Amino acid sequence: GLVIGAAVAGGGHHVSAGYPDPFPNDQAYRELLAGEFSSLTPENQLKWEFVHPARDEYRFGPADDIVSFAEEHGQAVRGHALLWHSQNPAWLADGEFSDEELRAILHEHITTVVGRYAGRIAQWDVANEIFGDDGAPRSENLWIARLGIGIVGDAFRWAHEADPAAVLFLNDYGIESRGPKADAYLSLAQQLLADGVPLGGLGVQGHLSMSYPQPSAVAENLARFAELGLAIAVTEADVRMPLDGAPTPTQLAQQSQWFADLVEACRATGRCTSFTVWGVGDHYSWVPSVFPDEGAATPWWEDFSRKPAYDGLFEAL
Ligand code: XIL
Repeated sequence: GLVIGAAVAGGGHHVSAGYPDPFPNDQAYRELLAGEFSSLTPENQLKWEFVHPARDEYRFGPADDIVSFAEEHGQAVRGHALLWHSQNPAWLADGEFSDEELRAILHEHITTVVGRYAGRIAQWDVANEIFGDDGAPRSENLWIARLGIGIVGDAFRWAHEADPAAVLFLNDYGIESRGPKADAYLSLAQQLLADGVPLGGLGVQGHLSMSYPQPSAVAENLARFAELGLAIAVTEADVRMPLDGAPTPTQLAQQSQWFADLVEACRATGRCTSFTVWGVGDHYSWVPSVFPDEGAATPWWEDFSRKPAYDGLFEAL
């Protein structure tokens, strides 16, 4: 009964790694996306730097193609992301705007982007990665730095006005286990609900690394989130590992277990609406570009044959 999703590669590191844009160009990849998944998330194509490259210019083509593809194949779409500290275009990040102008820019962006796909994008990550590891709002988030934390609630309200049917999410990483960051995330969710903000779901990214111990008591932590009565989703699951050559059978078995455990922790909340993997095929994973000595993070090898993690994941679903 769980919706299983995939990030659709394009833009971002894929381009800098020299791949032709995967989604429009790789037929085998498209077939895998169509055949294995019931939800798709544009990995980069709806981020500000791609969809809103100049103040007066939107570029919807790549996201339009994904949304149409999803509709053709009876798949849901998760929109990602509206208010984030990262992957903002230079015109915005380096622009000299008054607070009032910034607010208007965000309002216009959300109204335009969410409105374009109203009724077609089922869930939106409205606010992404608000907190640092210590549980304080990130100082590098330009929206919060300039407009205060209250802008998060406004972003949800504007998104809801633009598409009342979409389920609106907070989303973050490093909140799988209990800790200062997970606590801050939960408190923000509680505050938003108390303020009457149309928050509908809590996203847990699920970027795990086998260079560290497996996150502990994930089910207990997610159960706290679920007590708010919101949808719970694992939005960006991958399990990277330290590599010195090819992954070992032991590593592959552990990876498989970690994926399965994450599915189980989400399902145990009784409110888990979807489980999305961040990358199909290790060559299309963002991991090597960001974590130099780690990789092999997805359930598929580079030729799209299945790794042990595929079986672990799909048996758990
Ligand atoms: C990553 C993409 O996978 C890369 O292609 C891009 O170069 C950088 O961003 N958390 C998020 C995602 O919310 O948007 C990030 O995606 C991975 C971490």
